[in-house]
Amino acid sequence: MTKTAKLILENGTFEFPVIEGTEQEKAVDISKLRAQTGYVTLDNGYMNTGACTSNITFLDGEKGILKYRGIPIEVLAEKSTFMEVAYLLINGKLPNEKQFLEFRNGINDVSKVPDGIINIIKQFPKDAHPMGVLSAAMVGLSAFYPEYLDADLTPEKKVKVINQLIAQMRIICAAFYRHSIGKNPVKSDTKLSYCADFMHLMFDKGNIDPAVAQALDILLILHADHEQNCSSTTVRVVGSSQANPFASISAGIDALWGPLHGGANQAVLEMLEAIHQDGGDFKKFLARAKDKNDTFRLMGFGHRVYKNFDPRAKIIKKACDTVLDKLGVDDPLLEIAKGLEAEALKDPYFVERKLYPNVDFYSGIIYRALGIPTNMFTVMFALGRLPGWLAQWKELIESDAMKIARPRQIYTGDVNSEYVDIKKRK
Ligand code: SDX
Repeated sequence: MTKTAKLILENGTFEFPVIEGTEQEKAVDISKLRAQTGYVTLDNGYMNTGACTSNITFLDGEKGILKYRGIPIEVLAEKSTFMEVAYLLINGKLPNEKQFLEFRNGINDVSKVPDGIINIIKQFPKDAHPMGVLSAAMVGLSAFYPEYLDADLTPEKKVKVINQLIAQMRIICAAFYRHSIGKNPVKSDTKLSYCADFMHLMFDKGNIDPAVAQALDILLILHADHEQNCSSTTVRVVGSSQANPFASISAGIDALWGPLHGGANQAVLEMLEAIHQDGGDFKKFLARAKDKNDTFRLMGFGHRVYKNFDPRAKIIKKACDTVLDKLGVDDPLLEIAKGLEAEALKDPYFVERKLYPNVDFYSGIIYRALGIPTNMFTVMFALGRLPGWLAQWKELIESDAMKIARPRQIYTGDVNSEYVDIKKRK
């Protein structure tokens, strides 16, 4: 017997199905609301609106739970690798050895990007923000691979384009970084792990410290997916028009760039550096974050869904100490971050609003210890989130329920306006 929700309106009483997910989340299915009642819903920022059903990631903001395909993030961060997690997200289960080898070979088979893309990257100013370059280069790939522009890709083509995007994004990120420091790109070394090869592509080092590769694996695992966040929603919206995967991923990169989303990790480091320059007095910055007349926000704090703690922040904070210790890095910004967090968690303003450190609060400190420049931090977020975007895009285009995204609105503008000749306008 399907449970229903009753809606009493001026023009009648209506019932709509209630659906329940495998983690006991409940939703009122309003897909027939307008047809039956003439009403639409209004939900600024989609804070209460489910855009889809999905089998990929589950998170519980109150309990601080995050699972990829049912596996807790804590277990994956401890036992898995970024490439294995990428396979899990995209294909729905952990790979056996044969499947994993095929996946890795599929990615390693694409160990370069077209010279045209490298030439485009080299045309950008050295001080350009890497996210703009990444977005342009990723959608630029569509010009070189027309075979993936079809609306309904075959299963083989979907596998190939997913492998290709995972392989080529890493190369593009590193190529622009090297251009920004006046150096040419280096060739991918497919004997290395994905993360070790990325560090090789960035810094042209053969022997990558295993501690560095492991730290990067953990960070990219923690960033790999996060259900219907702003950038994943963007990937789905663009993909819902049957735009190609290059366009969908490029749009996701653009959404992630914002300081309220993935751009926060760069903003956190800039905030910590400002506090450091200012003598380390983080209480002044807390006061600014609480001041309604000041647009400053405590970057890396707060979350739309996590109203208790972000499980990823807990893991990264712990990893900070381990990685900096292993690398012999003593970063004063880590102590400032810890002091800021401790102070904020005692402050009624943050406690009442359930504002806790999120994934972006500590991640930049590790990236900095790995030698990655601050303006590349959001690119690192994109690199980690790519498998999640691809998994969401694949789930969308394979869904029988897929429809082009087209929300409604409530019009509040002028009614029956007249056209007045320009000579008579005030
Ligand atoms: C990510 O969605 C995802 O899953 C995202 C992400 C992922 O993996 O994809 O987890 C990654 O984007 C993490 C978030 C990174 N952004 C930041 O760290 C930027 C700083 N944080 C905020 O701007 C804010 O907390 C958001 C954007 C993250 C969430 O904003 P909401 O849910 O829209 O909440 P809100 O802006 O309505 O804030 C509620 C109240 C407001 O105060 P009041 O009007 O009630 O008095 O809390 C205040 C806000 O002013 N507030 C903050 C604050 N965050 C919220 N005040 C000071 N500093 C902050 N950081």
